[in-house]
Amino acid sequence: MEQLTSHIIGTGSYLPEKRLTNADLSQMVDTTEEWIFSRTGIRERRIAAPGELTSDLAVEAAKRALDAADLPADQLDLIILATTTGDLLYPATATIVQHKLGISATNIPAFDIQAVCSGFMFALSTADAYIRSGLARRILVIGAETNSRIIDWSDRGTCILFGDGAGAVVVEAAAKSASGSTILSTHIHSDGAHCDLLQTTGGISSGPPEGQKGPGLGFVSMRGNEVYKQAVKALGQIVDKTLEANQLQREQLDWLVPHQANIRIIQSTAKRLKMDIKQVVLTVEQHGNTSAASVPLALDEAVRDGRIQAGQLILLEAFGAGFTWGSALIRW
Ligand code: UT7
Repeated sequence: MEQLTSHIIGTGSYLPEKRLTNADLSQMVDTTEEWIFSRTGIRERRIAAPGELTSDLAVEAAKRALDAADLPADQLDLIILATTTGDLLYPATATIVQHKLGISATNIPAFDIQAVCSGFMFALSTADAYIRSGLARRILVIGAETNSRIIDWSDRGTCILFGDGAGAVVVEAAAKSASGSTILSTHIHSDGAHCDLLQTTGGISSGPPEGQKGPGLGFVSMRGNEVYKQAVKALGQIVDKTLEANQLQREQLDWLVPHQANIRIIQSTAKRLKMDIKQVVLTVEQHGNTSAASVPLALDEAVRDGRIQAGQLILLEAFGAGFTWGSALIRW
């Protein structure tokens, strides 16, 4: 039997309406528009409306990806949702998405993956493993976040960085010889030794943050500068490793679609790859850091506006809390 590979047959994304600009933030905390833009590359980010949940963003992105793939939702056989800001502690938000897509009766498995900003890379890697092993044929892979719900809006070190949004892809099994947008390889890593550098201030078994009653989850807390250094290092290594695993040279890459945490981190990865910044899909200026949503949001933007073309070589990468990091190489 011929070996199976994963084809990406549709992409989609969704952003909430409300824009929060750097000027707005300068009224909320001790910062300036100029400081935020020069240190991060961010000018604005989107914020989910009250009552607008991660599952709502995910469903919009999923519907657009399914439309692009021309695939009815009931033809899916697995849903994987990457998120750290699910609707509830449980059930998994993926099951809520399944219900909102109207396909609960299919009884297909639906589960969440939590790898923070690398979540989409972990979800895509999992989907690819399901396809290659023959366990699933059509998988909806989503990254969706309402980061605004876990931000301490009085902490200028973190509240300027994050935004809300969702992106999705539909992945389908294909014969290795078939033409189409093919995932060549995925690579994922974790290193729990640094979990204290980027974490929430409370949790379930750790209990609520000090002075707070009930099962409060706390807020994002980050030692930004140290995270920054680790991100640059890990991403540099993983992009080299990804090319090496496929016996490809960096000159052969057409597009880098990176996690959008900070323009300076992205520039340093592009520099290592000797890529012109024009070959990098950038959304950080308008979206900020949307965590697990950032890579599929950027991918969808570049597919829809025609930058990404059939036959091109695309490198996706992300780094996040844990630490976790991951990449995927795709022949579009
Ligand atoms: O997506 C998951 C992974 N996350 C990341 O990759 C984020 C990585 N980190 C970063 O992007 C950057 O470290 C930040 C954008 C968060 C911070 O930029 P930085 O250049 O590393 O600044 P810093 O933390 O070293 O702080 C420099 C100064 C400090 O003041 P002092 O101690 O030098 O007086 C901060 O208190 O900037 C101050 N500062 C601010 N000033 C104005 C920190 N935040 C702000 C702010 N406005 N919003």
